Amino acid sequence: MKILMITGSAHKNGTTAMLASEFIKGAEEAGHEVYRFDAAFKNVHPCIACEKCHNTDAGCVFQDDMNEVNTQLLAADAVVFVSPIYYYDINAQVKAVIDRFYANDSALHGHKKAVLILAMADDTMESADGAIVSFKGMTKFLDWEIAGTVVGVECADVDALQKTDYPAQAYELGKNL
Ligand SMILES: Cc1cc2nc3c(=O)[nH]c(=O)nc-3n(C[C@H](O)[C@H](O)[C@H](O)COP(=O)(O)O)c2cc1C
Repeated sequence: MKILMITGSAHKNGTTAMLASEFIKGAEEAGHEVYRFDAAFKNVHPCIACEKCHNTDAGCVFQDDMNEVNTQLLAADAVVFVSPIYYYDINAQVKAVIDRFYANDSALHGHKKAVLILAMADDTMESADGAIVSFKGMTKFLDWEIAGTVVGVECADVDALQKTDYPAQAYELGKNL
């Protein structure tokens, strides 16, 4: 299976980076091919809703690192979204990539699995509610199958994360996709 992973954190060794690595380890052991796009280190302009991608043949007006994502996105059997929670939602880096899906909307419907991996400081699920609702809405709209989620509660940093079984959950999700 071809898997596109989109991460959002600028912490190269942070909580979500660790969960991403564990997922990849499991997925690769199971024979899947993972392409990881670390959005925090890429240039992805936010969508400006100019509609040029829908109303002309020219495609998106922004020629940036989204070109790299689009190739992988169109070929992917599964898309994995990995984000820290920022103010009760996924972070802006991941959201910018998702909004740019708009240019390929019609080609993206159906035939994909989707995974959501989150980490956050709070000790209740409430902080993740917004991210989960928008993930469910997006996958419903795109007709993608939700293959699993890992929500790291009370994981402000790697020390906290390592005391939990969330890394193991991410590994198992990758292995059993
Ligand atoms: C701007 C910002 C906003 C945050 N908002 C929340 C929040 O709403 N709820 C929460 O539980 N944690 C929040 N956090 C904490 C992070 O989600 C948490 O530390 C996470 O583990 C960071 O992941 P990373 O190490 O992969 O970057 C916030 C952190 C930052 C920097």
